[in-house]
Amino acid sequence: MNTGTIKIVWPNGSTSEAAVGNDWLKEANKAGINIPTGCLNGSCGACEIEVNGEVIRACISTIKGPIKGNLKVDFFYDPFW
Ligand code: FES
Repeated sequence: MNTGTIKIVWPNGSTSEAAVGNDWLKEANKAGINIPTGCLNGSCGACEIEVNGEVIRACISTIKGPIKGNLKVDFFYDPFW
């Protein structure tokens, strides 16, 4: 379900606009952001990012909305890896 566009703030400080419901990996690619990947089916965790503090697996997640404000993305670092 697409309910509009939302501004995304990437880890390098760049921004882009994306449609709600689009794939995170595709939007990152369009924005020139490389999110590491592995299995591409949600099981390995290589693609984990934080979106407004919530850890998601980018390969199986879509941009959620509606939301007020921006979505801030950070790379997720697992201290046990
Ligand atoms: S690439 Fe393995 S969980 Fe996303």
